[in-house]
Amino acid sequence: MNGGLPHIAVLVSGRGSNLQALLDAIAAGTLEAQVVGVFSDRLDAVALQRVPAELRWSRDAKAYAAREEFDAELADAVAATAPDWIVCAGYLRILGDAFVQRFRGRLLNIHPSLLPAYRGLRTHARAIADGAREHGASVHFVVPELDAGAVVAQAVVPVEPGDNADALAARVLAVEHPLLVSVLRLAVAGRIAEQGATVLLDGHPLLRPLRVDSPKPAAGDARTDPTGTLH
Ligand code: GRF
Repeated sequence: MNGGLPHIAVLVSGRGSNLQALLDAIAAGTLEAQVVGVFSDRLDAVALQRVPAELRWSRDAKAYAAREEFDAELADAVAATAPDWIVCAGYLRILGDAFVQRFRGRLLNIHPSLLPAYRGLRTHARAIADGAREHGASVHFVVPELDAGAVVAQAVVPVEPGDNADALAARVLAVEHPLLVSVLRLAVAGRIAEQGATVLLDGHPLLRPLRVDSPKPAAGDARTDPTGTLH
């Protein structure tokens, strides 16, 4: 852990509303951390504008001959900020094995589905096409296999009759923000850890992902988060 506030590095490719949720929580005093860098594979990512210029790092990943070259530069830039946690928040590029191994255990991703369902892209459209009744988002540790790491927590929303992908995506996004903030709160407090395919919460294996949306757990449930959001 760094001296002072825990360091969070955020990887982004697009609009950055999840990054904004972290920044807002920090500003509101509900997440005791600092964003030490925002890193993008796209020069024009809107998300970059959400932080001061000195916190921005971006390169055009497509200009690199090999994925490993871009990843290595990105990894060095991220490492230079001495991050305690690295969060992929709408980062649309696959991270190579070397990057993942270098930061394994402190690398989180938010993915818009109830993993293990719907890894990869177009999750909302695929859930609707399947007639799914529920959809949602997951925050998980990143492993080399895409969207396959241990899931820390999930938020569930209903799929409503007549939903299209945009409507469902908006409903999911609204729960992504509190979900991500809640998990980062646990992370910076040192309460979660990755142990192989399992998440440890306060040193104990999680048998299933935490939820932000289910009814309050029974009194004495060790999985209760004192902030009251995750259970
Ligand atoms: C979110 O739906 C996130 O789950 C997914 O990409 C989207 C990013 O949105 N990985 P934003 O850039 O945080 O607004």
